[in-house]
Amino acid sequence: MSDGRDPAVSAGAPDRESVAPPPSFVAQANVTDPDIYREFDEEWPECWRRAADRLTWTSQYDSVLSTADGIDWFPGGELNASYNCVDRHVEAGRKNHAAIKWEGKLGETRTYTYQDLYREVNAFAAALREMGVEEDDVVTLYMPVLPELVVAMLACARIGAVHSVVFAGFSADALATRMENAGSALLITCDGYYRRGTAVDLKSKADNACLSVSQDVDQVVVDRLEGPSYPGDHRSYEDCIDAHDGEVVEPVARESGDLLFYIYTSGTTGEPTEVRHTTGGYLSHVAWTSHAVFDLEPSDTHWCTADVGWITGHSYVVYGPLAIGATTVLFEGTPDPPGKDRFWEVIERNAVDVFYTAPTSIRAFMKWGEEVPARHDLSSLRLLGSVGESIDATAWEWYHEHIGGGECPIVDTWWQTETGGVMLSTLPGVDEMRPGSVGRPLPGIDAEVVDEFGEEAPTGESGQLVVTKPWPGMPVALREGTDWARTARGDPDDEHWAYSTGDGAVADEDGYVTLLGRLDDVVNVSGRRLGTTEIESAIIGVEGIAEAAVVGGEDDLKGTTIHAYVSPAANVAGTDDLRQQVRAAVEDAIGPVAVPEEITFTSALPKTRSGKILRRYLEAIANGEQPEDTSSLRNPEVVGELESLVDE
Ligand code: WTA
Repeated sequence: MSDGRDPAVSAGAPDRESVAPPPSFVAQANVTDPDIYREFDEEWPECWRRAADRLTWTSQYDSVLSTADGIDWFPGGELNASYNCVDRHVEAGRKNHAAIKWEGKLGETRTYTYQDLYREVNAFAAALREMGVEEDDVVTLYMPVLPELVVAMLACARIGAVHSVVFAGFSADALATRMENAGSALLITCDGYYRRGTAVDLKSKADNACLSVSQDVDQVVVDRLEGPSYPGDHRSYEDCIDAHDGEVVEPVARESGDLLFYIYTSGTTGEPTEVRHTTGGYLSHVAWTSHAVFDLEPSDTHWCTADVGWITGHSYVVYGPLAIGATTVLFEGTPDPPGKDRFWEVIERNAVDVFYTAPTSIRAFMKWGEEVPARHDLSSLRLLGSVGESIDATAWEWYHEHIGGGECPIVDTWWQTETGGVMLSTLPGVDEMRPGSVGRPLPGIDAEVVDEFGEEAPTGESGQLVVTKPWPGMPVALREGTDWARTARGDPDDEHWAYSTGDGAVADEDGYVTLLGRLDDVVNVSGRRLGTTEIESAIIGVEGIAEAAVVGGEDDLKGTTIHAYVSPAANVAGTDDLRQQVRAAVEDAIGPVAVPEEITFTSALPKTRSGKILRRYLEAIANGEQPEDTSSLRNPEVVGELESLVDE
């Protein structure tokens, strides 16, 4: 293991300069002792006490980890997430400290102190109770990044209800599938939002979704748009708050393993994958990583640009920063429009200390030019973060230089919806950074790169990234299905327990991991995770379409774009009208984010002799590359057709 301090230690990554954390950062950092890796290793799983003890428990846990029946983190412990994110900061005398600084799409701003948040969360929790919401009921939340979304999440947590936030860019169908799956009978939504200055209706999508699920669904509607409130048979959020203003709802003690939320992500099947996170393990994991990786203190203003609808928003817009007692910036907009200065204005106005965004945004900033951020005072920044896809060395350097002024460490954080919180990264006050590589597994996390047989891949050779020990933020499905006790005894006949991440990776000789992209049918478009099978199912649903294959094509800005190869049924022509129907079908089934950038009609899809679609071949075509050996194709006649399409 490297001691993390010596910039000369760049073995294993000869083509990359290593960058040491600046001494000014180290001098104030939360974690600075390189021994933390060894200590966590030697003390595992007891080491995770350090995470759990960042929280306030109403009943102390009996032990850190129990493997008697599945995997239980902090068994016997009880706590409430809303208490941890709100009340305890008020009780500690920081009621007038800003909890949320909201930056609206039209340039509006709103600040919620911890006291404001306390009052509104309590009022909404009382309203939820009055509506009959009980412990473990699932409440669906469907709205853009508004303070009311955070209030609703925390109000659910307060009464022990489970929230399921659905990204507002998803379609009515996608919302309905998720509500149906979770059996959710209450939807908190809003009338609409603004896009490029015009109002976009969200309520009718919510209505359509409610009509198509089998259960009866009540709605609470936040009034986001200017003008008269939306008519219809629902409660208004504002009325709920007015009716219960000043009421106090005792936070419900939840067992550590009780659910905090559902979140749906894309997997390898045609259906969205349900991921369930728990109260004690998840919250410990995100509070600890907010402290150790994002170096957050209550005095900090943290801005994570992710939409709250994705896991990054759950963990590092809402739960992590609020558990710490910091100020979190809630940003409703996009980098542009209006203007290309929006991000830098937000940083300057709010004196943001820690800024966390995705490489796709950084590539857009690079394109717009360094003079844009140079017009702003970004000197409040202390630490930068990146997530969602690999950040290449050029974008890394640009981010470091033009946003961080060469003075801010960058944490490139690898994690997933399933992991709940960051798993691989550098510790910014300890480790040197290697642009393009995320770093090592965090202290207490065991992960390695394995070959196709599950054996650790030799240094420098690519394989799949797997996590080899349980971690606090692990999802319920992994806890339940695991006989960790058996594998932990180390019986040589047993297979080792491992969670396969689906990501290709390579490790250098210091254990720094570089991610190589997904190995399965998942694509990351602008840092958003989509399943190709889900998109294909939507396309095949269009009348006159026989088959479809969706692959990711490389894109300078978005990282990946979606290419669809579509084969119409016999006697059906690949017309522009059909193309339009394909786009509309994907937009209806999933949402605009999933609509293919390129749709190519072809008489047949390239298949292996066993009938499997050769995606690697299509990927090469999508990227304008010469496909490798095509001798395994069952239908080599499509080769010429597809390649000629590329040349057009
Ligand atoms: C990818 C987002 C490279 C990876 C938190 C992973 C990354 C998927 C990084 C999870 C990174 C995330 N470098 N790739 N720093 N972070 N990924 O579930 O493919 O939306 O499996 O969670 O994003 O996406 P998800």
